[in-house]
Amino acid sequence: MSDSHHTIEALFDEGRVFPPPPEVASRAVVSSDAIYTEATEDPDAFWADLASRLEWRRTWDTVLDWSKAPFAKWFVGGKLNVTESCLDRHLAERGDRVAYYWEGEPGDRRVITYAELHAEVCRLANALAELGVHKGDRVAIYMGMVPEMPVALLACARLGAPHSVVFGGFSADSLADRINDAAAKVLITCDGAWRGGSVVPLKEMADDALSRTPSIEHVVVVRRTESSVAMTPRRDVWYHDVVPRQSPERPATECDSEDMLYLLYTSGTTAKPKGIVHTCGGYLVHAAASHSMVFDLRPEDDVYWCTADIGWVTGHSYVVYGPLANGATSVIYEGAPQFPDKDRFWDVVERYKVTLFYTAPTSIRTFMKWGDDFVSRHDLSSLRIIGTVGEPINPEAWMWYRSVVGGDRCPIVDTWWQTETGGFMISPLPGVTTTKPGSATIPLPGISADVVDEQGRSVPLGQGGYLVITRPWPSMLRGIYGDDDRFVETYWRRFSRPEENVWVYFAGDGAKRDEDGYYWLLGRVDDVMNVSGHRISTLEVESALVDHPAVAEAAVVGRDDQQTGQAIAAFVTLRGSRTGDEDLILELREHVATKIGKIARPASIVFTDELPKTRSGKIMRRLLRDISEQRKFGDVTTLANEAVVHEIAERARAMRPADS
Ligand code: WTA
Repeated sequence: MSDSHHTIEALFDEGRVFPPPPEVASRAVVSSDAIYTEATEDPDAFWADLASRLEWRRTWDTVLDWSKAPFAKWFVGGKLNVTESCLDRHLAERGDRVAYYWEGEPGDRRVITYAELHAEVCRLANALAELGVHKGDRVAIYMGMVPEMPVALLACARLGAPHSVVFGGFSADSLADRINDAAAKVLITCDGAWRGGSVVPLKEMADDALSRTPSIEHVVVVRRTESSVAMTPRRDVWYHDVVPRQSPERPATECDSEDMLYLLYTSGTTAKPKGIVHTCGGYLVHAAASHSMVFDLRPEDDVYWCTADIGWVTGHSYVVYGPLANGATSVIYEGAPQFPDKDRFWDVVERYKVTLFYTAPTSIRTFMKWGDDFVSRHDLSSLRIIGTVGEPINPEAWMWYRSVVGGDRCPIVDTWWQTETGGFMISPLPGVTTTKPGSATIPLPGISADVVDEQGRSVPLGQGGYLVITRPWPSMLRGIYGDDDRFVETYWRRFSRPEENVWVYFAGDGAKRDEDGYYWLLGRVDDVMNVSGHRISTLEVESALVDHPAVAEAAVVGRDDQQTGQAIAAFVTLRGSRTGDEDLILELREHVATKIGKIARPASIVFTDELPKTRSGKIMRRLLRDISEQRKFGDVTTLANEAVVHEIAERARAMRPADS
């Protein structure tokens, strides 16, 4: 972090700022900054106006009920089914418009219009109803990026059955935990998924999970990779057996604004992932409006590509719900960016003439490393606006993205938000905001943020602190599934003043505001790591390690990494006579992959006889970070056993060649 900061300062000195290009500003969805004042002066009217752009069965009585804060209700009394905004309302006039250009990793392609998507969603909804799914039942989804995946989310929404998508890179254990927490009734999965030329055996992993998920009654399996899979009679059905024979019509189930639309599990500061709850009305209002404003969407002309997997919130809000509500044409690509070669993304951009492109800083840094040639051998002149999400973007990567991908022409929208926020919170508006390399700029209209100190006091411009949100917003999480106390504790306890009825949302991120009030995100301030834009809890990895019979104790920290933002560094003490060697390192990494998923595998593991602890027995992670990043140690005065730190540092240095 400190390094990139110097660079930020240097960029300031050079006065490198980028005003909106005239050709964007002159005809943007938002072309005047008056919108910020309007939203602040009358937030209810601002949000109501955005809500009125969706399809409602019944208009709401009240925009916001904050009387039971921090439990919010938005668009109270409103009735809708989100799929009517995403699908039905497009049919009459633009049913033939392409909803998705889909490209499989092996090179197969499909074009799906809004009319076709609507019909397929209805068919699957009918099939799910036949399998006993009713309004309110939870449905788990564990799939690769095939066209049936957005169909699955929408079919659940059609029935008012909340979906819980589990990213296809998670392990059987992770899948089982999430299914059980939600007591899901049905699972939708694939035989396998294509990734980097090989098959991820989704059904096999699902079968492992299903041995301990008593709530699951049926499994719907999409055939994709033609791998041979076991089908359990009466429980498992093939998608192609049960869906095509259904009617392409299915009346949408009427839902309340505040009915749950979905659950999405994310890592927190404890070992157990949290089921983040989003509801129908407010979520769709913000997902749709923010997508339109930030990407300056012109649905008739644009081709939009968000590279995120639908397994993450970015895919939920900005591959499925936001773009479809706006009638956008999107690209979905199934597989890995280096398959068959390192120019696959740019090949896709060129072929579909993508105008709006949205990806993660970790990918941008990888493309930088691969070299400009892979990019410049393609015609990317269709691009108009390019975006990033998932982690702080370093100014160097920002500048590379701007010049090599964006041809020095496209505004960059660096969007800060979270699973919990449901939609963009801090981001430029390409027609009005002057950007600075590495800054997410300022909160969107209607969003009130602040940077505060330990006591919750707003810090002066130019200083850093904790990022907070000071007013409710429509797509805010409504809770943690089944755990109201944890919801209040995690997000609201630290900076709120309930006795004064002041409720402040704590995001878990550090931020600095510069003299212009621009926000610079500084990464997580809690025990959550950000590896390639994926949120992973240190405690989750620690408990996966301790679960291995050879391990007595484990401490995990995120260390800075050029490529992945952070890398997982583990420190492990062993039980009994087992010695720490290369074989055990491999075994432990695999163990973590089995417990959580490959994304959580430690990049390095150092064995030690003791972990550095305070006299009260708390592991001093700060010191382990210092060791991992080869810094001089911070304060060691509270340490119970100082010698141990030097010993670990010695071993960490010796281990270094074995890294990565
Ligand atoms: C980080 C992803 C800096 C941040 C949408 C946040 C970012 C966490 C940015 C949420 C950004 C996301 N700049 N940091 N533009 N976007 N983050 O829930 O630490 O997977 O708290 O949501 O990612 O990750 P999540």
